[in-house]
Amino acid sequence: MKDLVFSGIKPTSVPHLGNYIGAIKQWVDIQKNHRCLFSIVDLHAITVPQDPKEMRQNTLDIAATYLACGIDPARSTIYIQSEVAEHAELAWILGTVTKMGELERMTQFKDKSQKGGRERAGLGLFAYPALMAADILLYDTSAVPVGEDQMQHLELARVIARRFNQEFGETFVIPQALIQKHGSRIMSLQDADKKMSKSDESKSGTIMLDDDADAIRKKIMRAVTDTGGGVYFEPEKKPAVSNLMTIYHHLSGKTMKEIETLYEGKGYGDFKKDLAEIVVDYLGPIREKLETFRREPGELHKVLDAGRDKAKAMAEAKMELVRERVGLGR
Ligand code: TYM
Repeated sequence: MKDLVFSGIKPTSVPHLGNYIGAIKQWVDIQKNHRCLFSIVDLHAITVPQDPKEMRQNTLDIAATYLACGIDPARSTIYIQSEVAEHAELAWILGTVTKMGELERMTQFKDKSQKGGRERAGLGLFAYPALMAADILLYDTSAVPVGEDQMQHLELARVIARRFNQEFGETFVIPQALIQKHGSRIMSLQDADKKMSKSDESKSGTIMLDDDADAIRKKIMRAVTDTGGGVYFEPEKKPAVSNLMTIYHHLSGKTMKEIETLYEGKGYGDFKKDLAEIVVDYLGPIREKLETFRREPGELHKVLDAGRDKAKAMAEAKMELVRERVGLGR
């Protein structure tokens, strides 16, 4: 049987270009020769405050984005995490074999709890990696295509799986992360030291997948560059330009070398102008499809219903084994 691939996105906003390049774009290729599950992980989203109405809309928008970007529901299972209750059940069980010290070391927890202080951080935010491990282990996943920021969580999922297997007998497959060479960490257009993110205070640092052509052009033309001219891929010396080149590379299919040759002797202005048009042309059709789904969500609900039923059948079978291994029930 083909290897199983699992990944997901939190419905905290419409996805951005970092989500697309770091995750969704890889998924579209991977689904051609793997069994895939792509979830909208709403239980993860509520580990930080969400407006319920907005989150519902974001959930549908993420599903629409998956389809608009080329995830094919005939090949891949698209579903909402909270509609398969086994995720939460397994997360609880895995929580009993996860150490406080391991969770305390997670940089995402440290970052997100920094504002209000550790004492005021929610239990859900702390236990987030156990839920993420549950998502992955529930389906005997062998590969998880994610951006670099999820590596630490994935490492912990592997530790938890091994520990459970040791304590209760072989139950879970040990998953591998799939990280791309370029693009696993797209940076903010306003600050090349920070990753592109939905929570960036500077809205112009993040290109949302539903930005219109004008917004995209403005954001790219305003993007920060590095001192000293020249369009070269040198992430250490030229982090901002290298980040823009990574976007160029992914959306045009050109290699870094080809891009360097193309802009030899030219300035940042020419490069940014071309990049803006590449991004506008690439995202235009995605945005149009997304908007069609917003107006007519019927098809979306059909895909999500079918995805839920398929994921649920797989999750139920696995949970029966887990309960038996742990000694739960009669
Ligand atoms: P989330 O919703 O923050 O991001 C979704 C995916 O996008 C990637 N990503 C990026 N890649 C490159 N550059 C960026 N600037 C960038 N920002 C985000 C993320 O690495 C991710 O792959 N915890 C996960 C969701 C999750 C999950 C899972 C993922 C829950 N359960 C199980 C895989 C498997 C998260 O918060 O992703």
